[in-house]
Amino acid sequence: MMRIIIAATLTLLLCLLTIHPPNFCTAHSNSELRCIESDRHALLNFKQHLTDPSNRLASWAAASDVDCCHWVGVVCDNRTGHVLRLHLRTHFPVYDEITRLYDEDQREAQYEAYSRSRFGGKINPSLLDLKHLIYLDLSYNDFGGIQIPKFLGSMGSLRYLNLSHAGFVGLIPHQLGNLSNLQYLNLGDNFHENNNNNNYYYYLLYVKNLQWLSGLPLLQHLDLSSADLSKASDLLQEINKLPSLLELRLSGCLLSVFIPPPIPSSINFSSLTTLDLSYNSFENTSIPFWVFGLHNLVSLDLSWIQFQGPILVHLQNLTSLRHLDLSYNAFNSSIPNWLYSFSHLEYLNLGINNLQGTISSAIGNLTSAISIDLSSNELEGKVPRSLGNLCNLRKINLAGNKLSQEISEIFESLLGCASNGLESLDLSNAQLSGQLTAELGQFKNLVSLSLRYNSISGPIPWSIGNLSSLRFLDLVNNQINGTLPQSFGLLSKLESLDIDSNMFK
Ligand SMILES: *[C@@H]1O[C@H](CO)[C@@H](O)[C@H](O)[C@H]1NC(C)=O
Ligand SMILES: *[C@@H]1O[C@H](CO)[C@@H](O)[C@H](O)[C@H]1NC(C)=O
Ligand SMILES: *[C@@H]1O[C@H](CO)[C@@H](O)[C@H](O)[C@H]1NC(C)=O
Ligand SMILES: *[C@@H]1O[C@H](CO)[C@@H](O)[C@H](O)[C@H]1NC(C)=O
Ligand SMILES: *[C@@H]1O[C@H](CO)[C@@H](O)[C@H](O)[C@H]1NC(C)=O
Ligand SMILES: *[C@@H]1O[C@H](CO)[C@@H](O)[C@H](O)[C@H]1NC(C)=O
Ligand SMILES: *[C@@H]1O[C@H](CO)[C@@H](O)[C@H](O)[C@H]1NC(C)=O
Ligand SMILES: *[C@@H]1O[C@H](CO)[C@@H](O)[C@H](O)[C@H]1NC(C)=O
Ligand SMILES: *[C@@H]1O[C@H](CO)[C@@H](O)[C@H](O)[C@H]1NC(C)=O
Ligand SMILES: *[C@@H]1O[C@H](CO)[C@@H](O)[C@H](O)[C@H]1NC(C)=O
Repeated sequence: MMRIIIAATLTLLLCLLTIHPPNFCTAHSNSELRCIESDRHALLNFKQHLTDPSNRLASWAAASDVDCCHWVGVVCDNRTGHVLRLHLRTHFPVYDEITRLYDEDQREAQYEAYSRSRFGGKINPSLLDLKHLIYLDLSYNDFGGIQIPKFLGSMGSLRYLNLSHAGFVGLIPHQLGNLSNLQYLNLGDNFHENNNNNNYYYYLLYVKNLQWLSGLPLLQHLDLSSADLSKASDLLQEINKLPSLLELRLSGCLLSVFIPPPIPSSINFSSLTTLDLSYNSFENTSIPFWVFGLHNLVSLDLSWIQFQGPILVHLQNLTSLRHLDLSYNAFNSSIPNWLYSFSHLEYLNLGINNLQGTISSAIGNLTSAISIDLSSNELEGKVPRSLGNLCNLRKINLAGNKLSQEISEIFESLLGCASNGLESLDLSNAQLSGQLTAELGQFKNLVSLSLRYNSISGPIPWSIGNLSSLRFLDLVNNQINGTLPQSFGLLSKLESLDIDSNMFK
């Protein structure tokens, strides 16, 4: 007994006195806590059934004496040593909103690299031995069209399950309804493509009903995008049992006659902030009116829902919206005035509709706006000068309208404040005339400028050399003449220059 105390005291003294303490001083600190042996076995077993073409899990080695809490993608509880989280997502190249239309080669190379590093194979039930796992992310992998394993429903500790974009198809197992601690469930964008004699077949996830959802009362985020929910006649009833829901994504779920009756008398998921119903073909007679009672909505996506008729006045109470996407429909009214009073709106997309009338000068009230897309409508008249007062704007797309204005006038309007931060300006096919003026040089942060298919004449101004961030310039089909100014040489970032069908020397 005495010997142990003396030894411990000596050790302590030694550690305190030494400037570079020997290893045994730190060996038992929390950071050196080792993983549980059974967890380590479970992980190795799990790895054995996965395919890992680029050997991302090299650190998961049976022979190595490295603590499994330090393996790639593994996070342990720093008090108990139990595996808490598995981060096995594959990095998917995300394209800048502004430049995504371009850069095809670069895109392809990045996509190839992504494809080569995905996990696949089988998901072994040894995962069940990770009794404390709260977080499992297998998204952006390719499990080649297998079903979501039923046994996942027995991982009762899970709070976060992300299986999005991972090649799972077939019936979503109702066993998932046993994950009563789940706060986040993402099964979105799962599909598998089969090529049979050049006939492509797509297999999706599907459900017969959504009763199992009621077992997930803590759910805050639910994404079932691209799953076939056309048979789930209980959709709205079941979602109504999720009072904590903040985010609901049902994009491309083959919902046609929307949400069959009975519509619940009260909507209980009124704390919802994000709703995505895009890519469903709702018939115009079955507009999801309950949407308009969701007063806390911050993000609403109703693009590609085959809607015809005026922009619904019912939207006007959703004044908290920051993100509104109504693009790719057949909305045919004018842009309603109440929309301009949405002072929190950052992202507005009304592109590809049949909107009529002029753009009101009240657009200058959208002071939070970062991106405004009104392209491919029937809008007429001038771009209001007040647009230039929107100091946060990074992107404007007014292409495909009948603006009938001089380009120099639009430049002048935007010089207010908007020109400083603007990165993308698309005014193509907008019936513009007149000449490019020196003001062009003041849009110093422009990355992409498209003026194609207009009647712009005269030379390119020398000041274009000041657009040092410019990567994409498209002036196709105008009447621009003269020669390219030497200041073009200053455009060191320029990747794509389209100037065909003009009157250059
Ligand atoms: C344990 O992890 C938590 C969360 O990551 C952290 O806040 C805490 O400081 C850690 N504790 C120790 C002793 O490392
Ligand atoms: C779930 O995975 C998808 C795909 O990797 C990703 O976009 C999404 O952000 C993930 N969710 C969370 C909350 O991390
Ligand atoms: C869900 O859990 C209950 C009780 O824990 C069990 O009786 C039932 O069989 C489980 N259901 C599924 C589908 O796993
Ligand atoms: C919705 O909330 C009301 C009142 O809070 C409650 O009576 C009703 O049972 C709830 N409906 C569902 C489907 O949970
Ligand atoms: C719904 O759209 C169809 C065309 O697809 C149209 O014939 C019909 O009148 C519309 N119904 C309503 C109520 O607007
Ligand atoms: C808008 O579309 C609806 C439905 O297609 C149609 O009944 C109405 O006449 C259209 N209005 C205008 C102004 O084109
Ligand atoms: C909008 O809000 C007002 C006042 O709160 C209310 O009277 C009206 O019925 C609401 N309109 C819709 C479409 O929800
Ligand atoms: C725009 O703002 C001005 C000044 O605050 C206000 O008088 C006007 O009613 C607003 N217009 C719209 C359509 O919200
Ligand atoms: C270029 O076009 C402008 C406007 O049409 C014209 O005034 C000018 O003479 C033309 N210059 C040359 C060099 O063709
Ligand atoms: C760029 O702008 C500065 C003043 O802001 C000016 O002196 C310079 O000549 C411009 N460069 C070009 C190529 O127009």
